[in-house]
Amino acid sequence: MKPIIFSLHLNPLFEKMIKGLPGYERGKLETRLFPDDETYLRIYSDLKQRKVILIDSLDRPNTKTLPLLFFAKAARASGAESVGLIAPYLAYMRQDIEFNKGEVVTSRYFAEILSHSFDWLITIDPHLHRYKSLDEIYSIPTTVLHACNEVANWIKHNVSDPIIIGPDRESEQWVADIASRAQVPYLILEKNRKGDAEVEISLPRLDKYKTCTPIIVDDIISTAKTTIETVKHLQDLKMKPAICIGIHAVFAGDSYQELSSYNVKKIITCNTIEHSSNGIDISHLLINSLGSM
Ligand code: R5P
Repeated sequence: MKPIIFSLHLNPLFEKMIKGLPGYERGKLETRLFPDDETYLRIYSDLKQRKVILIDSLDRPNTKTLPLLFFAKAARASGAESVGLIAPYLAYMRQDIEFNKGEVVTSRYFAEILSHSFDWLITIDPHLHRYKSLDEIYSIPTTVLHACNEVANWIKHNVSDPIIIGPDRESEQWVADIASRAQVPYLILEKNRKGDAEVEISLPRLDKYKTCTPIIVDDIISTAKTTIETVKHLQDLKMKPAICIGIHAVFAGDSYQELSSYNVKKIITCNTIEHSSNGIDISHLLINSLGSM
């Protein structure tokens, strides 16, 4: 029997995956909100002894997670052989330590909750900072895919004479990899986060890159403050307008509009989260990963 694949939030990435996975059946379900915001979920496909796969990005996780857990429970109750989750963006990775006494390390609890409901997880560039691997918090098999090659290819084909800028030490893992694949120079700045939406970025020494096109690369753009502060510094240094690349287009509130209001050349993201800035396709990473399971 073919494995069966679902999404609770249909989007272009899911459609691409369905097209790229002819050996998989598209599952049929219906979901909506009741007037009081509770979830209605109905699964039409027969899941008995089937390998079931759910694809859903976990941005806005508080709203999305409960329906996901209902789905997993229902799939098991219907006799599914296994229930796997593909979360192109994996949420709750940034609170990975108790910075201040009493803070809840939500990354650990979120991982426990998902590990309890799913048999395996595939994701793209999770925010691994103090955790070196998802295995430190997830008790199910996990596969981590990387979009660095796709970002590097985009840079190679679209920007001449670039310098890649990483706004903080955490970004170095992505920036160094992308720069080496694209064979271009990079610099890492120092960031001091003063609050959820307040960051300070150190002044870089960019004299010898004055003629280059700066490309700011970060894994997540959320409030966009990190990117905006970096853009402002580059402007102060009279650099050319920056290209801003994010792997995950979280864009909280009106942060996309705010970032766009600065003199940036382009804002471009991978399609791990559906957003108008999506311009780097990562669907084949997921398709290949499923194809090799
Ligand atoms: C955190 O260290 C991440 O790598 C990003 O720099 C961060 O998530 C960006 O957040 P924001 O867009 O809210 O500044």
